[in-house]
Amino acid sequence: MLPILGQNSLKDSYGRAIRDLRISITDRCNFRCIYCMPETGVKWKQKSEILSYEELTFLTEVFVSLGITKIRVTGGEPLLRRGVVRFIESLAKIPGIEDLAMTTNAYFLPEFAEKLSKAGLKRVSISIDSLRPRSFELLTKVNALDRVLAGIEAARKYNLTPIKVNMVVMRGINDLEIVDFATFARKYGLVARYIEYMPLDGPGEWRREMVVSGKEIYEQINEHYPLVPLHPNHKSETARRYGFADGTAGEIGIIAPVTEPFCGACSRIRLTADGQIRTCLFSLNEHNLRDLLRNGANRTDIVDFIAEAVLKKEAGHRINEPDFIPPERTMSCIGG
Ligand code: 5AD
Ligand code: SF4
Repeated sequence: MLPILGQNSLKDSYGRAIRDLRISITDRCNFRCIYCMPETGVKWKQKSEILSYEELTFLTEVFVSLGITKIRVTGGEPLLRRGVVRFIESLAKIPGIEDLAMTTNAYFLPEFAEKLSKAGLKRVSISIDSLRPRSFELLTKVNALDRVLAGIEAARKYNLTPIKVNMVVMRGINDLEIVDFATFARKYGLVARYIEYMPLDGPGEWRREMVVSGKEIYEQINEHYPLVPLHPNHKSETARRYGFADGTAGEIGIIAPVTEPFCGACSRIRLTADGQIRTCLFSLNEHNLRDLLRNGANRTDIVDFIAEAVLKKEAGHRINEPDFIPPERTMSCIGG
């Protein structure tokens, strides 16, 4: 494939090339993970506020023409939205997309994995923050560990690989399972990704003391299963990657946005379900692409709007600054 050069590349004002678009297709979720959404839920968007699949496909095609090569479909829980398989099929037809992935809680994967794979989805990242049924339920408010495990099995069966499993590590909640999670990765040949807890639960429960640092996570795993560093897959890789020194299958990824920010190499932007461009997880303002589109903008207007939004991409998050303000919207609305 020809490299995409020059004008086909979105650059922000810090010279970062934007290659990676995360599209949230719904703000709804059947789980209530404590780090993501209040237990009472959030006020769902009306259908009319949410971009249609036609709008999303058109916009994605424009983004791809501007140099986006990686697409991740997220939510809320993306498999809750009707018609998602056909949407994936239409994305898979857009030339220039090199990677098409989905983040899901896996609850519906037993019934969807085969269809998604046939539709052209390449791989899935699955949120699973505890391997103990009781604690899984406390974390998600749903008694569904078995279903999620079956979902992982289905993803493997239909080659939605490499399968990444994400664990947000929270002190006092699931930090005693760090080594168990690595054992799980070895047993099933998964990429286990440990993510530092970020203040994304709205103006919520996050406390710095609850963050277990990447360093601490590494040390715990390495003591039990000696690790060997692996090369980053690409320049904007967020995870530090490790293999097991004894050669067992599986991989460890440690993502430490709080204690070791990687914003300098960020290549990501986001589109929320209601059509707002977010240039950072922690952006305090959004760019209303939906209204522009619905008010009859032509392709050039849209291209200019996207390029301009990208130029406003923040240097980085400010989690560690004394005047840090968390974003108003929770992760379930922003899209993971
Ligand atoms: N901190 C860190 N990661 C989070 N995610 C969601 N909320 C948070 C948070 N507060 C990640 C989880 C989930 C994905 C959708 O986003 O890994 O799997
Ligand atoms: Fe739902 Fe994912 Fe948020 Fe959990 S992390 S509540 S599965 S959107």
